[in-house]
Amino acid sequence: MTPHSACARAHANIALAKYWGKANAEFNLPAVPSVSLTLRALSTTTTVTFDDTLDDDLVFVGGKRQQGRPKDRVTEMLDRVRAAADFKTRATVESVNNFPTASGLASSASAFAALALASISAAGLDWDSARISDLARRSSASAGRSLFGGFVRLPTSSKGSYLPSECIAPPSHWDVRVIVAVTSLEKKAVSSTRGMNHTAATSPYFDAWVNLCSTLAPRIERAILAKDIDELGKATEQSALSMHASALAAAPGVLYFEPATLHVLKEVWSMRSDAIKAYATVDAGPHVKVITTAEYASVVVQRLQGVQGVLRTIASKLGGPAIVIESDR
Ligand code: DP6
Repeated sequence: MTPHSACARAHANIALAKYWGKANAEFNLPAVPSVSLTLRALSTTTTVTFDDTLDDDLVFVGGKRQQGRPKDRVTEMLDRVRAAADFKTRATVESVNNFPTASGLASSASAFAALALASISAAGLDWDSARISDLARRSSASAGRSLFGGFVRLPTSSKGSYLPSECIAPPSHWDVRVIVAVTSLEKKAVSSTRGMNHTAATSPYFDAWVNLCSTLAPRIERAILAKDIDELGKATEQSALSMHASALAAAPGVLYFEPATLHVLKEVWSMRSDAIKAYATVDAGPHVKVITTAEYASVVVQRLQGVQGVLRTIASKLGGPAIVIESDR
């Protein structure tokens, strides 16, 4: 076949109700429902070109050739696309983040969402967003959520192994802001996949975590629909801290916090005692993401910039769905 190429962009997302633990490793099905916000400020742009002259997939991130597990994860997704399109052609994949890759910020969600959309488009497959979200989710569950804009859910119940994310409300529903407090430039020591599998296998708190999620996720969805920032914030903080508590109780314990993470958490609580509506969440790394509304965004940025150990802040509005930017199909 003649080479076919497509370029797609997807935004990162931050979970309010965290996904932590798998119900099924083979199909990468989550053990708990999760709810996220899509972030306009952080995105990945990926071009996929299927080319008959290649004898292996070539994968570049920020211009740097990828080998080993990072490259294999891309090939695994491309193999699913090739099987669906019924061809064997290898591809060149060029992916660029609009935020520093070495910043320690997670990029797998936006990366696998952009890769899924670009490769489906370059392969000439006519799939809807749900099916592309399911494809992204098989590579990284949080990536399934980045196909959609605004407020997004990834449920747990599935028809067999098919499990797409769903949009709860578009960005126009509510002007929630996220301020990321970047606290480290290091790559995280324990990946999300390894951290959650180890927690599920060894933490005495894992079952309690799974039970809690069945009430927290719907509570967070109700707070989103009601635009209730206090209810949303309280449930969001409980989800993050309970996830980390389950990881801390694993054997040996998994600790993602750095001293600066605690400084930021305390500053967020101190903002609340000053009547500033700010709530914190932390993923599998030391950064803190602060959820607030448009009204408080600039004061939250100011307060976070004064915290010991905060290297920079990134403020974001809610972002839209993943989009195809260019396709020759
Ligand atoms: C803490 O989606 O990276 O960010 O499915 O194993 O690739 P895999 O895990 P991943 O886990 C994300 C974990 C989290 C919480 C979340 O985004 O829901």
